Amino acid sequence: MQYWIMGGGGIGQALAKACIARGEHVVLFSRTDPKLSQIHWLPVDNTDEQALAAATQDLPLPDRVINTLGMLQQGRQQPEKRLEQLSEAALLNSIHINTWPTLAMAQILATRLTRTQPLLFAALSARVGSISDNRGGGWYSYRISKAALNMALKTISIEWQRRFPAAMVVGLHPGTVDTPLSAPFSRGLPEGQLHTPSQAALNLLEVLDTRTLAHSGRIFAWDGKEIQP
Ligand SMILES: NC(=O)c1ccc[n+]([C@@H]2O[C@H](COP(=O)([O-])OP(=O)(O)OC[C@H]3O[C@@H](n4cnc5c(N)ncnc54)[C@H](OP(=O)(O)O)[C@@H]3O)[C@@H](O)[C@H]2O)c1
Repeated sequence: MQYWIMGGGGIGQALAKACIARGEHVVLFSRTDPKLSQIHWLPVDNTDEQALAAATQDLPLPDRVINTLGMLQQGRQQPEKRLEQLSEAALLNSIHINTWPTLAMAQILATRLTRTQPLLFAALSARVGSISDNRGGGWYSYRISKAALNMALKTISIEWQRRFPAAMVVGLHPGTVDTPLSAPFSRGLPEGQLHTPSQAALNLLEVLDTRTLAHSGRIFAWDGKEIQP
């Protein structure tokens, strides 16, 4: 099988390694070279739709595309504890990284998909993007950008059901995974609740392997359980 993996962070790299171990072919799009053997790395900022279009134009369409981009805090941008800490700039930056690249890649794929071309397009979301599951509040920019991502996935799925009925789109929650994104928040988690990136990658591939077209537009956690929007 051919994979395109967007993002070479903790989970992106672990997914790439897990796919290679299964004998799959992987093209990884990221800003820095992960220096992983057998992986075809393309230097791309995945938030830049023109760079993505240029990087993909000569590649054959893959069987699966997985977007692993995500940002919870960066530089001076911190997850908000209260409303007063939210700024328009932070919100737009979160949407730029957490929401837009999935839509940009979907636009690129849509220029090449046909009615009979099978494709599985997955994006890593987060349980905190669920509106019905929001019990703790806070983290405005992250929650809103992930809720918007979930809406984007659902809306793409409806359009593709009509135009490209062999293509499906799902969101994935990887669990709490030991990566730079979670590191500031995962201290003190009970034993067993912090997954290694390699375990998370295997869990996510298992979820993808067991999805069918009937699952398109829905969000699933690492254990295969559906997350309500
Ligand atoms: N770790 C967790 O516990 C956890 C929990 C729930 C959901 N998630 C979700 O899982 C996904 C993967 O997260 P991770 O833990 O692997 O995070 P990570 O190790 O911090 O990786 C972050 C990824 O996002 C990309 N990225 C971040 N800022 C960017 C920017 N300004 N411009 C372009 N690309 C940018 C990076 O791209 P480059 O490769 O180009 O550097 C990298 O691939 C994310 O969607 C995250 O929200 C993670």
